[in-house]
Amino acid sequence: MSVDQLIAVCGATGRQGGAVARSLLEEGWKVRALTRRPDRPEATALAALGSEVVEADMEDVESLRRAFEGAYGVFSVQNGLLSGFDREVVQGRNVADVANHVGVAHLVYASAGTGQRGTGIASWEAKVDIEHHMRELGLPHTSLRPEAFMELMTDKSYYPAVGTWRIWPRISGEDKGIAWMAVRDVGVVAASVFGRPESYIGRSLTLVADVKSLSECRDIYHDVMGKPPVTFPLPVWLFDRFTRGDVTAIWRWVKTGEFELDTAATRAIHPGALTVKEWMVLQRESANQQEV
Ligand SMILES: NC(=O)c1ccc[n+]([C@@H]2O[C@H](COP(=O)([O-])OP(=O)(O)OC[C@H]3O[C@@H](n4cnc5c(N)ncnc54)[C@H](OP(=O)(O)O)[C@@H]3O)[C@@H](O)[C@H]2O)c1
Repeated sequence: MSVDQLIAVCGATGRQGGAVARSLLEEGWKVRALTRRPDRPEATALAALGSEVVEADMEDVESLRRAFEGAYGVFSVQNGLLSGFDREVVQGRNVADVANHVGVAHLVYASAGTGQRGTGIASWEAKVDIEHHMRELGLPHTSLRPEAFMELMTDKSYYPAVGTWRIWPRISGEDKGIAWMAVRDVGVVAASVFGRPESYIGRSLTLVADVKSLSECRDIYHDVMGKPPVTFPLPVWLFDRFTRGDVTAIWRWVKTGEFELDTAATRAIHPGALTVKEWMVLQRESANQQEV
């Protein structure tokens, strides 16, 4: 597989798409970053790294057709927390339809959850629908399935991180092992998957770099940051308003559901995937740099 081919990256100004675009550029791929607003700082930062940036909307099939023209591969990600889960399905299907139409050789899909129907979790059911559609099309694809991003512990651009420290333990308990993955490592895995289509097309990869309970994560945070994570009282109904009730539904599932907790498969693809402790140290270093 020659890595100098073109990958069109949906959601390139966001977390997963941004990480994927960066990893692909580092590996020597050509990247076409899709955004609805090419003037966004996240888009101009990618252009500075050598990415092409194009205006496209996953609601607009014609814009996708232009954006995918000539691409070897497509990275597909949607965010139903922002768009609504019915629109997540429409957007995911649009991306798959157009990728199929223009003859893309490999689509890597940012999935989540169990991959099975019946969890009652809207963001997971949306992804089951999209994956079902891709299989019906016969589209060559790989699904990446992380459970929880480490960024949930600190990233201010997520719903209030206080939800992670205050509401999640109340719903799921403190002691259950959670499968963690840093978003940047999703990018590294996606780039590897594009590079080895013969190994990964037709597969669904559960992504887990480290398994730690919330109480272990709280201790790591405290040790590394020198203080406990900030929390304040936040009613569940208000948190649900920010997150369409979906995040608390996932946390209810986590209390009794079984997620893959073996890190071996992920580490076989990406041996350097960050542990929670390593990731937290990087957060402290970047916070220290911002203070200087
Ligand atoms: N939080 C977790 O722990 C976790 C774990 C596993 C999976 N997930 C899944 O991760 C997904 C979200 O990924 P993320 O965090 O990378 O998302 P994100 O940071 O919100 O990025 C989404 C990007 O999509 C673009 N976008 C939104 N609507 C668009 C449209 N109509 N057309 C074209 N582009 C559009 C936006 O770019 P522009 O505004 O520039 O167009 C945005 O940068 C969700 O499906 C969630 O279920 C989350």
